[in-house]
Formats: sequence, structure tokens, C-alpha cells
Amino acid sequence: MWYFWGSASAALSHVVLGIESSCDETAAAVFGADGLRSNVVASQLDAHQVFGGVVPELASRMHVEAISVVVRQALHEAGTTPESLDAVAVTHGPGLAGSLVVGVCAAKGLCLAAGLPLLGINHLEGHLYSLFIEPPHPALPCLALIASGGHSDLILFRDHGRYDVLGRARDDAAGEAFDKVARVLGLEYPGGPRLDQLAESGDATAFDLPRAWLDGEPAFSFSGLKTAVARLCEQLGPDGVQDRLADLCASFRQAVVDVLVRKTIAAAEAHGARQIAVCGGVAASVGLRRELAQAAAEAGLELAVPAFRYCTDNAAMIACAGHYRRQHGGPDSLALTVDSGLPLPAAGRWRGEVG
Ligand code: KG4
Ligand code: ZN
Repeated sequence: MWYFWGSASAALSHVVLGIESSCDETAAAVFGADGLRSNVVASQLDAHQVFGGVVPELASRMHVEAISVVVRQALHEAGTTPESLDAVAVTHGPGLAGSLVVGVCAAKGLCLAAGLPLLGINHLEGHLYSLFIEPPHPALPCLALIASGGHSDLILFRDHGRYDVLGRARDDAAGEAFDKVARVLGLEYPGGPRLDQLAESGDATAFDLPRAWLDGEPAFSFSGLKTAVARLCEQLGPDGVQDRLADLCASFRQAVVDVLVRKTIAAAEAHGARQIAVCGGVAASVGLRRELAQAAAEAGLELAVPAFRYCTDNAAMIACAGHYRRQHGGPDSLALTVDSGLPLPAAGRWRGEVG
């Protein structure tokens, strides 16, 4: 099937509207050849906080309420209109199906109305492109760690739209472990960022917690660590946990960071990559950023890390992925569907790839 990419002048700037609604943030952003033009995020955090986690139906309803306002605001701040865009990029998985549907339908509506091509973006590919929102961009090939709420993946990012998944989480992802352990420690949702903050004032050597090395394979497992913390908390009792809260946070975080850092460096060395990168919500951990920077310097590797605001879910990374896909790959049909379990393909290649 042939796709037409619009006018030559628009194609030069590749101005893309990105839409993200995979979980509890309704977000839209515009990215062009001159960089990020707007970035709007409506967070549902307060609504879900009282339930101690994301309530899927509530999330979908809130996306329906917010999506038009957020998209209009992103276009307004970018000083553009749908007709002047070059494409619309939207997250179509993985994530909550009912949430994804809202973003995908909004994107299709815009494409139909303004005659634009539609780009379905894998949310994890979006996290990879958070590395390209602002300079300095990582040099490719690059060994990238995606550490989010649902994923801990090691990626050999060969070139735009070309990457190989070297290994994934076998059970709990790093962010999931942060959130579950935070809950065990009695921290308020969302616990990951709070745990990271408390860890800064604790002693990381206070408790000896397990690390799953998996015989050096480029894969992760954090469920054993989570269970070990739960057992430790039972032994300490509620008062003991409160007394040692910062030390528990620091010891847990150290166990996660040790594994993430060592496996990322090992994978880079195994594949001869001189550049490494980290992205996804857990890349906002100050402990992980600090230790990865130190390990990279010791190993003589360059490290790229997105600004804090681009680590957790946002549409700037989706618009940025769309901008590069516009240059190196083809669009999707308007029959694009959502897939709550959409995997990052083991050997990712953009459809209709050019060059
Ligand atoms: O990428 P993201 O916003 O959503 C997913 O795609 O999953 O990642 C969310 C995850 C959550 O598990 C959250 O606890 C974790 O990222 N996270 C952090 C920090 N900020 C967010 N984990 C550790 N330290 C942080 N500062
Ligand atoms: Zn994410």
C-alpha cells in the first residue's frame, strides 16, 4: 500500500502533534525540526490517589473529559493549527485499553478532519525518544535501559527506528517494585518517587537485600527483592518500619540500582557500545542517575539521561518519536487499533522504513 506524506514544505519541518493517554496522564505536545514547541500534561494523580492506585474506568472517563482541551492547548501554545501539522502521532499500546482508546480516537478524528497521516507509537519507543527531545542527543548506536512502571528492558538502539531488545523483566519491573515496596512501607501513592526521596537520607548498607543477577543475562527480576522487603517489614513490625524507614528505602533502592547499573554497563561492553542511556519513569530516580553516571565515567562510556520532566509519561516523547518516524518510516492506516500488551518487537524496524 502507498501512503502520501503531504506537501514538500511541511515534510521539511516534520511538525508532529503527539498524544499520550496510556495510563493516568492526558498529554499532547508539538515537536518540529526546531524542537519541542509545546508540551501539555493533565495529570489525574489527585483523583486516583484516594484509591491508592490507578482506577482504569475513572482514568478513561477523565481522558474523555480532558483530551480536547489538552490537544487544543498544545496546538495553541505551539502557535499552529491541525491543518498546518505534518502528522499526528499517538500511543496505541502498551497501557490501559480504555485509556489508549481515547487518545487513538482523538488522533484519528484530527487526521480525518485535517487529512493528516497517523503514526501509531509504541509507548516504550516513546520513552526511547525522550532521549531526543532536547540536546545533547545520544550518539547511535546506544545501549539504552528503559525502566518504567511496567518494563525494564535493555535495548540496543542501532539507529532511528532500528533497535533490538536484548532482555526484559521476567517478573516485576523496576518501577513496579518501587511502587509495591513503597506500599509495603506505608508510603502514599505514587510511592516510587517518595521512596526515592526518602532513600537520600538513609543508609544503603543498613539491610542486606538480595540481588537477582540471573547469571549475567541481560534480563531483570525484582519480585524476590520485593518479597524480601515484605518479610523484613514483618520482622521489624510497624514501629520498627517507621523507625528505620529511610534505611529501608535506601537499602531497597541500592539493590535495584546495583542490578540496573551493572547489567546496563555489561550489555554496553558486550555489544561494544560507547554510548549508554536511561529513560522511563525510574530514570527520574536521583539514586539511579547518580550511580549510573559514576559507573559510566569509570567504564569510559558516555551517558545520556532525559530531563526529569521527560522521564515520566508525557506527549513530548510521542511527538518526538513521530517526528523521527516521519523521516525514517511510514505511517499507519486509519484502522490502527490499541493493544494493551503491545510488546516492543525483539527486532524493531519501522514499517515502510526509508534508507
Ligand atoms: O514511565 P512511567 O511514567 O510510566 C510507565 O510507563 O510505567 O513510569 C512510572 C514508574 C512508576 O513505577 C514510578 O514509581 C516510577 O516510574 N518512578 C520512580 C521515580 N519517579 C517515577 N521510581 C523511582 N524514583 C523516582 N524518582
Ligand atoms: Zn511510561
